[in-house]
Amino acid sequence: MTDFTAYEVKKLLSITAAQPRLLSLKNHFSTSTPAMSQNNNADFKLDKLFDVKGKVALITGGGSGIGLMATQALAVNGAKVYIVGRTEEKLERVAEVYGKDIAGEIIPIAADISKKDEIKKLVEHIKSREKCLCILFNNAGISINTQQTEAKSAEEMSANLFDDENETFEMWTDTYRTNVPQLYFMTTAFLPLLQAAHQHNDNFSGTVINNSSISGIVKTSQHHFAYNASKAAAIHLTSMLANEITQNGLRIRVNSVAPGVFPSEMTASESDDKQKSHIPREKYAEKVPASRPGEDRDMANAILFLATNQYLNGQTVAVDGGYILSAGSGP
Ligand SMILES: NC(=O)c1ccc[n+]([C@@H]2O[C@H](COP(=O)([O-])OP(=O)(O)OC[C@H]3O[C@@H](n4cnc5c(N)ncnc54)[C@H](OP(=O)(O)O)[C@@H]3O)[C@@H](O)[C@H]2O)c1
Repeated sequence: MTDFTAYEVKKLLSITAAQPRLLSLKNHFSTSTPAMSQNNNADFKLDKLFDVKGKVALITGGGSGIGLMATQALAVNGAKVYIVGRTEEKLERVAEVYGKDIAGEIIPIAADISKKDEIKKLVEHIKSREKCLCILFNNAGISINTQQTEAKSAEEMSANLFDDENETFEMWTDTYRTNVPQLYFMTTAFLPLLQAAHQHNDNFSGTVINNSSISGIVKTSQHHFAYNASKAAAIHLTSMLANEITQNGLRIRVNSVAPGVFPSEMTASESDDKQKSHIPREKYAEKVPASRPGEDRDMANAILFLATNQYLNGQTVAVDGGYILSAGSGP
C-alpha cells in the first residue's frame, strides 16, 4: 500500500536529482509487478472463512438439542470437541452415533457445570491433554416450571402466578444457578487456556459463546418468568464478561447466541435413540415468521459464524426465524 497519490508520485518522478531513489519508488508502485497482479480470492473460500480444523472446543450440554447441533457443526468440520453433561450415556451415544468417519473428534466428559469444584476438575482435565482451548460453548441450561399467565381478573392472575405450588424461590434460584452463574464460572476458569488459543492457532482468538435465548429479549414471559429473567441476565453477563476481558487486553472474544425455538429435550421433552428431538413443523406455522421451528443447519451455520469471525465481540446474535419481530422486544 502507498501513502502517495498518483499526482504526488508523478511529481516526485519529475525531479531528476532524486533519480535513483525515484526509480526504486516507481518500481515499488508499478501496477505490473507480480505482487500487484495477484488477488486475495483464496481468502474468500468457505474453508478459510469458517475454518475450525484442528481447533479444540468444549461444549456443555453437548448430549442433546442445540449442544448436539453445535457439536456436529464443529466436529464434522475438523474440530476436536469435548462434550460435557451430567448423563454419561447421552454423551457416549452422541460420540458413538456422530463421532465416526468425520474430520474431527467427539470426546465425552461427565460433569455438572453448576458446581465450582466440578468446573475446576474439568479445567485440569483439559489442561492435562491440550495446550489451549479455542472454542468454549456454554450451552447447558434448564427451564423448570411453566405458568398460566392469561387471566380475567387480578385474583385469577395472582392465583396462577403466586399460588402455583411449583413456583417457588428455590425454583427461581435453581433456574438462575444453571443458566447464569455457570457462564461466569466456566468462562473465568478457562481464561488461561482460552488466552493460549491465539499462540497455537495462527492468531485465532479464543472464543466464548454463551447460549442465551430470545426469551431474554422478548417482552412476553412465554409462560416462564424465571427462565426468561435468567436469560436476560445471561445476555447482560455476556456483555460484562466481553468488556472486562477486553479491558484487560486479553485475546478472547465473548458473544452470545440467542436461539428462537429449536427441537431439544427442553422443548420437545424427549429425544430419540440418536439423541435428536422433534417438533412438528405445523406447531410453529403461525407463531414464527419463518413458519417453522429452527433446524440443525440453522444453528450449525450460526455457531460456525460465531466461532470463526475474529471481528465479532460482545454481541448477542438472535437466530430465531423472526420470532422477536413478531413477539416484540422488551426495553
Ligand atoms: N431449544 C430451544 O428452543 C432453545 C431456545 C433458546 C435457548 N435455548 C438454550 O439452549 C441451551 C440448550 O438447551 P436445549 O434446548 O438444547 O435443551 P436440552 O436438549 O435439554 O439440552 C440441555 C443440555 O444441558 C445439559 N445440562 C443441563 N444442566 C447441566 C449441568 N448442570 N451440567 C452439565 N450439563 C447440564 C443437559 O444434559 P444432562 O441433563 O444430561 O446434564 C442437556 O444435554 C439452553 O441453555 C437453553 O436455555 C434453547
